[in-house]
Amino acid sequence: MSVKTFKELAQGYDEDPSRQQRAEAIFQAILRLVPLSKEMEVLECGAGTGLLTVLLAPKVKHILATDASEGMLLVLREKRSRLGLCNVDTDLYDPTGQSMESSFGLLVASMLLHHIPDTEGVLRRFYGTLTLNGWVAIADLEEEDGSFHSPEMPKPAHYGFNRSNVVKSLEAAGFCNVYIETVHVVVKNERQYPIFLAVAKRGQ
Ligand SMILES: C[S@@+](CC[C@H](N)C(=O)[O-])C[C@H]1O[C@@H](n2cnc3c(N)ncnc32)[C@H](O)[C@@H]1O
Repeated sequence: MSVKTFKELAQGYDEDPSRQQRAEAIFQAILRLVPLSKEMEVLECGAGTGLLTVLLAPKVKHILATDASEGMLLVLREKRSRLGLCNVDTDLYDPTGQSMESSFGLLVASMLLHHIPDTEGVLRRFYGTLTLNGWVAIADLEEEDGSFHSPEMPKPAHYGFNRSNVVKSLEAAGFCNVYIETVHVVVKNERQYPIFLAVAKRGQ
């Protein structure tokens, strides 16, 4: 069985209803833990097909939805047009290689971190993209045994994360007020895969 790229996965990505359910649970937790506002400029990294983007968009001023895969962004742009979302722009962006101006009040990354080998490096970059008092919200897999991704999926850099290590890494990157909780459990192949949401602030 050959491993698919994110570009190849993009067109069928939304067909799995568990991804929509996961995005909805992450969105509800962000609503509860982050003071979203119509003044907020949001940077989303690894936005994929925009499952979370379209939920967040009505709650904030603007979202720059970014991904390293043009195929994923193509699906996101189709969705944006269908839903008439005027406050969402898209851009090809890989936070492991490029920096971004410090102009965002919130950075969101859902299910991206386990694809990034240098977690600490990317968290430092996330910190640098935020305005003073800006927020970061990161959702990802908790530690798992490597069975979450089927063999045809892109091979992850991490089999999930230990929650206390996520807290330590965010603090090491400079974030304060770090809070983490389990916000969802994906059930597949008779196994359970908890998903965490970590939120934190860039201080003054
Ligand atoms: C598992 S999908 C998650 C998509 C979406 N955030 C969600 O929750 O449904 C991971 C996404 O991260 C993107 N990605 C992987 N590595 C990346 C990188 N280094 N920079 C930017 N995007 C990346 C992939 O193209 C893919 O769209």
